[in-house]
Parts: sequence; structure tokens; C-alpha cells
Amino acid sequence: MKVLVTGAKGQLGSEIIHMLKTGSSSIGKINGTYLSAEILGTDKSILDITNLNNMRKILGEFDPNIVINTAAYTNVDDCEVNQDLAFKINAIGGKNMAVVCEELGAKLIHLSTDYVFDGNCKTPYREYDSPSPINIYGKTKYLGELYVGQFSTRYFIIRSSWLYGYNGKNFVKTIMKSAAKKDYINVVDDQIGNPTNVEDLAYHILKVALTEDYGIYHCTGNGKCSWFEFACKIIELNKFNCKVNPIESKALGRIAKRPSYSSLDNSMLRCTVRDEMRQWEDALRVFINNINF
Ligand SMILES: NC(=O)c1ccc[n+]([C@@H]2O[C@H](COP(=O)([O-])OP(=O)(O)OC[C@H]3O[C@@H](n4cnc5c(N)ncnc54)[C@H](OP(=O)(O)O)[C@@H]3O)[C@@H](O)[C@H]2O)c1
Repeated sequence: MKVLVTGAKGQLGSEIIHMLKTGSSSIGKINGTYLSAEILGTDKSILDITNLNNMRKILGEFDPNIVINTAAYTNVDDCEVNQDLAFKINAIGGKNMAVVCEELGAKLIHLSTDYVFDGNCKTPYREYDSPSPINIYGKTKYLGELYVGQFSTRYFIIRSSWLYGYNGKNFVKTIMKSAAKKDYINVVDDQIGNPTNVEDLAYHILKVALTEDYGIYHCTGNGKCSWFEFACKIIELNKFNCKVNPIESKALGRIAKRPSYSSLDNSMLRCTVRDEMRQWEDALRVFINNINF
């Protein structure tokens, strides 16, 4: 078995590679099949997903059975400014992946986002709900999904949200850094979603990848909250002495609109490999206990 992971230096890509190499996960045992797998992690310098020829060469040489595409342009506000680059990476990158995986007969696991939805729902979005993205990041990621469905047959589209992991920048680390030195912080209280520990997500991606239960999956931490509630829990678990003030999103004046509600329901996981995603508070507790801060 050969597994290729793009975005190897990103939050999720690095966690998947770590899990594949060590077989270690605080949720459950990694399937033994993976422990003898040959793994190739690629970053932009080795494999630029916007370049189809480069992709044909690297994937052709390695000839993977499974490709996990975590590479993306993930800065939501920058996507509004650099719209063509977002289009190239998030949409055309996904298309290139799909085309080459199909040529090689490889399974493709392609990562997507809760931001494909507009936020008008009042209950968690299921896989059958229609996307209607409201910002460039969401629109380009959604087109990437469509391309993957159009150009490959053995694909899993995995939508997740509000990721935090040991590598790279994320909300949990940002709040910890601020709260350690400030008396109070302001955090938005009008966006609801699902915090997701990348360890849980990586574990489920690897479970799903061994099956032939192709299709769209929602894969997020169980239970929903606002960013304000998320920040309060981070501070409580760290025992920081910092007050959190709830504010409205418009007070931040950010470039990209965000959906006010983007909670996802893991229906497809429940109906296939089992939903073992932890409650977000439990997964956060494990992360905070383990992080070197
Ligand atoms: N982060 C979240 O909260 C979140 C939420 C929902 C869904 N997702 C999705 O989950 C996936 C993983 O997210 P993440 O948080 O792990 O992202 P991340 O930490 O930003 O990692 C993405 C990686 O992709 C690389 N990349 C960018 N352009 C590339 C290109 N042209 N070719 C090859 N690699 C390229 C980046 O490299 P450079 O840094 O060098 O540019 C980065 O290492 C993404 O598909 C994302 O859309 C993320």
C-alpha cells in the first residue's frame, strides 16, 4: 500500500503523516495495514497542486493507492483579495488531483469545508443539503468538490470545520497566547460551528480511506458552540485568568463574510465506518493536556 499526502506541512497533513508513521492516535488503533504502508508527504516545493504536469510526474513515479489532498489556500480573508490564486489552488488543484488519481486508479480523499454552506440553516447541515457558499474560499472549495465528483470515480470528499492541531496556527493557540498575557479578550459570539481536533479528523480519514464507501462525508467534532464559547472553554481548561467579552462579527471588520451557522452533522460517518469523533470539549481537553505551550 502506498499513501501520498499533500499539504504535508499543514495542520492536517502533518498529523496524518505522523499517524501513518507512528500508528499512534489517542482515539483508537490505526489499522495495521497502514503501518507497513509506504508514505510520501509532499509540500508545495515538491508537488504544486496547481501544476498538472508536475502532479502527473510525482504521482506517476510514486504510483499511490491512496491520495489524501489536504493542500489548500486556507486564509479566508486573503482568498477575497487573491481570488485567482484561491481559484487555482482550491478548485483547479482539486481537479488536477481528480484527473491524475483517475488515470492511476488511485482513491482520492479530498478535504473540503463547512464554508460551502451559507449559514441559513438552523440545524446541523447534512451531506444532502445544498451548498451555497458566501465567500471566495467557500466558492472555490465548492468548485473543487464539483470537479472531484466530475473527474474521478473513487473519491471521498471530507468536509470539516474549525480545525486545530499541534502544527501551524489555529484559534486554540491564538487564544492561549493572548489569554496568557491579557486581562480580557474580545471574541465573536454570532457564528456557530464545530471545533475539530485534527487528530480525530486524521483518524477518521484513514478509517474511511480503506473502504469503498465513496461519497461526501461531514467529519467534525461532536457538539456545536460559538467562537466565544470555544474561547471560554480554552481559557477554563488552561486555568488562565482572562475575561472573554462576546462581540458581534461586524465589529471585527473582516473582508470575507462568514456563515453565522455552519454546524455539520456526521450522518455519512454514522452510516458507514462509525462516528467516533469526540465531543469537542473532550477532544479539546486532550489537545490542551498534550500541547507544549
Ligand atoms: N483550517 C480549518 O479550520 C479548516 C476548516 C475546514 C476545512 N479545512 C480544509 O482542510 C484542509 C486542511 O486544512 P489545514 O488547516 O491543514 O490547512 P493548512 O494548515 O493551511 O495547510 C494547507 C497546506 O497546503 C499548502 N499549499 C498551499 N498551496 C499549495 C499548492 N499550490 N500546492 C501544494 N500545497 C499547497 C500550504 O502550504 P503553504 O503554507 O506553504 O502555502 C499548507 O502547508 C484544507 O483543504 C482546508 O480547506 C480547513
